[in-house]
Amino acid sequence: MADQCMTVLGGGGFIGGQLVRHLRETHSGPIRSVDIKPVGEWFHRVTGVENLVLDLQQIDACRIACRDAHTVYNLAADMGGMGFIENNKTLCMLSVLINTHALVAARDAGVERYFYASSACVYNADKQRSHDVVPLRESDAYPAMPEDGYGWEKLFSERMCRHFHEDFGLETRVARFHNVYGPHGTWEGGREKAPAAICRKVALAELTGDRHIEIWGDGQQTRSFTYIDDCIEGIQRLMASDCREPINLGSSELTSISNLVSIIEEIAGIRLERAYKLDAPKGVNGRNSDNSFIQHQLGWAPVISLREGMARTYAWVREQVSKQMQSADTRRSAA
Ligand code: NAD
Ligand code: GDD
Repeated sequence: MADQCMTVLGGGGFIGGQLVRHLRETHSGPIRSVDIKPVGEWFHRVTGVENLVLDLQQIDACRIACRDAHTVYNLAADMGGMGFIENNKTLCMLSVLINTHALVAARDAGVERYFYASSACVYNADKQRSHDVVPLRESDAYPAMPEDGYGWEKLFSERMCRHFHEDFGLETRVARFHNVYGPHGTWEGGREKAPAAICRKVALAELTGDRHIEIWGDGQQTRSFTYIDDCIEGIQRLMASDCREPINLGSSELTSISNLVSIIEEIAGIRLERAYKLDAPKGVNGRNSDNSFIQHQLGWAPVISLREGMARTYAWVREQVSKQMQSADTRRSAA
């Protein structure tokens, strides 16, 4: 019989890719990474890993992905920042096919542990109306009034994980990520979230000398942003724990979007003239993570400060913007 493996669904994506890299560095057994994108487009290509290109909305693909696996991490979803989820509700909801089929395939393949990447978008909108938000506790997901489209899919899939444990004994772990950012994530193209988008805009201003920036909303909206290393650490700690309840995995360092822009300006060493686009996708007014439950369950919570995480992220995004500008120059001079 083949050695049992760990499978990461969505391994070509931002968080899945970092997770595969981390697992390869810390485990000796076989690792399988699965994504719908061609391998050339994956954020990370890790040596010593079986890479499969499959559409995980299909049950047969999920059966291949889960074959001989003892652990499955599901980080595959059709998603993005507010610009994407507000305008693509059906695509977001169709990700329910991934989790449904992956759970069925995992159960049938005898998988022992299954991780599901949920989101702070499951929380009741009434609890997120003020900028000065009260941090969200896990119980604030009910009564249900999540983000339309994307949030409903996440909430439904969370419950399916719970019932797969109750009815079939599959050990499921569910983390509600709060806006995860860092190097090697989506930074352009429409799916990028505020940290990467604002880094891109500031880097472009720094590199071109055009000192203007457009910010979505009035800048007063608040969020907490979670650095990728904390996210990966939290997934591993949760998977090693006995906690079967959905749990916040997010920083509790609240910032306004205007302050986020100021932090990135300071890192870049420039000041920009700001224009606020009030009809842009905005999402909730305020969102923060209450970390009492994760502290209680795991004896740990995210630790990396926004300033530190943004400095690392800005350096990476600036490099991407710079490379893109250089290749545009090369194309122009070749034409
Ligand atoms: P990502 O878009 O970088 O990664 C998701 C990956 O899933 C992509 O590589 C995509 O190609 C793949 N995928 C989509 N449809 C697929 C399909 N049918 N078959 C196979 N692969 C498919 O996103 P991410 O930021 O890495 O997010 C990972 C998970 O965490 C997702 O479930 C997401 O909803 C959740 N999440 C992320 C954040 C965040 O801030 N990044 C916040 C909350 C929840
Ligand atoms: N994307 C983006 N791009 N957002 C901007 C920009 C910009 O250029 N400028 C300002 N913003 C504002 C948005 O209007 C929003 O109010 C705030 O920054 C945060 O936007 P996002 O980072 O796109 O998303 P979010 O925090 O509302 O939701 C994200 O996090 C959830 C988990 O906490 C999304 O990625 C969800 O998919 C995710 O589940």
